[in-house]
Amino acid sequence: MSAQILPGATLGVLGGGQLGRMFCVAARTMGYRVVVLDPDPYCGAGMIADLHIKADYTDQAALQEMAGQCDAITLEFENIPSESVRFITDKTTVYPVAESLEIAQNRDLEKQFAKKAGLQPVPYFALMQESDLQQAASEVGFPAILKSNTLGYDGKGQYVVNDLSELSDAYDQVGKVDCVLEKKVNIRCEVSAIVARNAQAELASFPVSENQHRNGVLHMSIVPARVDDRVAQKAIDGASVLADAMSYVGILAVEFFVSDDGVLYFNEMAPRPHNSGHYSKDACVTSQFEQQVRMMCGLKPGDTRLMSPVVMVNMLGDLWLPNWADIFAQNNIKLHLYGKTEARPGRKMGHFNVLAEDVESALVVAEGVFTRLSGN
Ligand SMILES: Nc1ncnc2c1ncn2[C@@H]1O[C@H](COP(=O)(O)OP(=O)(O)O)[C@@H](O)[C@H]1O
Ligand SMILES: [Mg+2]
Repeated sequence: MSAQILPGATLGVLGGGQLGRMFCVAARTMGYRVVVLDPDPYCGAGMIADLHIKADYTDQAALQEMAGQCDAITLEFENIPSESVRFITDKTTVYPVAESLEIAQNRDLEKQFAKKAGLQPVPYFALMQESDLQQAASEVGFPAILKSNTLGYDGKGQYVVNDLSELSDAYDQVGKVDCVLEKKVNIRCEVSAIVARNAQAELASFPVSENQHRNGVLHMSIVPARVDDRVAQKAIDGASVLADAMSYVGILAVEFFVSDDGVLYFNEMAPRPHNSGHYSKDACVTSQFEQQVRMMCGLKPGDTRLMSPVVMVNMLGDLWLPNWADIFAQNNIKLHLYGKTEARPGRKMGHFNVLAEDVESALVVAEGVFTRLSGN
């Protein structure tokens, strides 16, 4: 059993976007020194870290330097090359491990893994070559969604297709890379379950959140999720089984669809804190970022109890510049900005959490503020 890593030690994060930044804030608050590696000199985590190594994720000298400084390293997103993670693994403690990362990087692999663990992925076909198109179409049916196996996020690399010719066009568009063709599910709602597991196999789960998307991007998370308790428990159990099956260490977020007919489908997993878990920063005893620190340090998972119903709303670059006075006029809103100077449409600039006695009241405030922010 590895020793616990305690305050005063140095923690590293590969990736300096908003997830890396919120990790840095949590780690520094808990008394750790933090190092971030990200090529962007202006990245949001760089401003918070004790040291920002400005280098590419494949730069071995930089990785070596980071590993030399850090007692443990984690990642902020799954598209960090797994070779880089392997490279530092024998130099310092790294969680999640490269094997977990490789599963979560690939849609086909993660669905196979979920299926083996007893979860139910959306019916799909793994498309490896052009001659598979016909068979994929007849097995999955239409409408369907074509997704590249790797590197997709926030709906990127995805095409809704309604017939074979649209499928063929989409396959060309995506560059004929390995893909999955998924049945388009009639979604009643989307939920996610976030679990934390340490090297001692101690596991804790966060309350399930109900997620509303717009244009493939998370718009709002509502907690407690307005789903049957059995559905919520099944999502938590599914995420826990997956974490155990991978001997996972870190934060694991699992997205599910609840279909019109009540089936809970596994969608995808992320080996890191998740946008749909940002509510935990204000509404849980332990946030998902503090939990990330605890897991990589071999500490006991913190209490994940929900202290208040909450609605999280993402703020994208489309809304810029917001009317800050309007936001602060609400006494139950917690604003979180990511330090990004350039606002582009679709870019995640921040989020706010609305805490209230019940989710209905939180929703009224959240929707009111969001509507005024969007100017309609
Ligand atoms: N098979 C599907 N059926 C219906 N909607 C889907 C399906 N796959 C994805 N979506 C919608 O698109 C969103 C983004 O897709 P997802 O696979 O989670 O990709 P990303 O990696 O971009 O988050 C989902 O949250 C959901 O709203
Ligand atoms: Mg997703």
